Amino acid sequence: MGEPITFDGRVAIVTGAGGGLGKEYALELGRRGAMVVVNDLGGAVDGSGSSQAAADVVVGQIREAGGDAVANYDSVATRDGGAAIIQTAVDSFGGVDIVINNAGILRDKSFGNMTLDEVDAVLDVHLRGAFHVSHPAFQLMKERGYGRFVHTTSASGLFGNFGQVNYGAAKAGLVGLSNVLAIEGAKYNIKSNAVAPTARTRMTEDVLGPFVEMFDPVQVMPMVVYLCSEENELTHEIFTVGGGRYGRVFIGTNTGWFAGQGVVPSIEEVREHLPEIRDITEHVVPGDINEELMILARLAGG
Ligand SMILES: NC(=O)c1ccc[n+]([C@@H]2O[C@H](COP(=O)([O-])OP(=O)(O)OC[C@H]3O[C@@H](n4cnc5c(N)ncnc54)[C@H](O)[C@@H]3O)[C@@H](O)[C@H]2O)c1
Repeated sequence: MGEPITFDGRVAIVTGAGGGLGKEYALELGRRGAMVVVNDLGGAVDGSGSSQAAADVVVGQIREAGGDAVANYDSVATRDGGAAIIQTAVDSFGGVDIVINNAGILRDKSFGNMTLDEVDAVLDVHLRGAFHVSHPAFQLMKERGYGRFVHTTSASGLFGNFGQVNYGAAKAGLVGLSNVLAIEGAKYNIKSNAVAPTARTRMTEDVLGPFVEMFDPVQVMPMVVYLCSEENELTHEIFTVGGGRYGRVFIGTNTGWFAGQGVVPSIEEVREHLPEIRDITEHVVPGDINEELMILARLAGG
């Protein structure tokens, strides 16, 4: 098993940590010695309303177990809210080492029935929310030369799910944020990964159907908390976690079909070569855009 992983002296922010998955992350980080900012707006699944109770209960549990935690009730959905969350970490614990972007809401509807307000509400919490928190956090991490980000993506964004175009777009957007933060953070020892969880929470209790009992949220926690640890060297990766399964999701590309340098094929030629264009038996998982360009360079003989 090796040495136990601890978080002594580390400051962790977990957004949306008043319940569900975020609560499990916050409790474990607290148990293992981190100073935890438990952020939660305390609203309903659709984002309406607010209450301080959710965050307060989790802070109480961390403290009862001998840990150190402070509550923050700001919304990630605004710039001021994001800044205030970081300020809470700085005022209470002197900085920020770990950010888990976990806060989330749902406004599910088929695209034809969805209003643009329902699109905005979901993008504001998941995608802009992650920017509002990560932007000020990244500055502080750069100065200290250390940081760990875990962004919460979703199978809905990675693979698609009926009725979640707003949510899917936001969750796919978080993968883009994570990938670029991983590249830009590399020289500052800042690691950034994304996790797509599946868990029985108030958000999913109606959708997991007969499988609901299989997905205890605490089973997602070990992967997420590992990625927040000092010894974690992984970055720029996406993990899928739920029901006891711990796996990787990757964005890869194949060799494809090379028409030739400077050649403009006809659309009929494209049609003819669709099998090669689409064949994914051999693929690579590029670590950045240059690694994709290398494929073309190889084909072009350069
Ligand atoms: N449960 C799953 O199977 C599943 C699957 C894929 C992704 N996710 C994602 O995991 C994350 C956690 O979800 P969960 O399942 O634990 O649901 P949850 O509803 O229990 O947790 C979300 C938390 O975020 C908080 N929150 C909402 N809006 C906020 C805001 N503006 N500012 C601060 N806090 C806010 C809520 O109060 C709530 O406590 C979400 O990002 C969700 O999209 C969950």
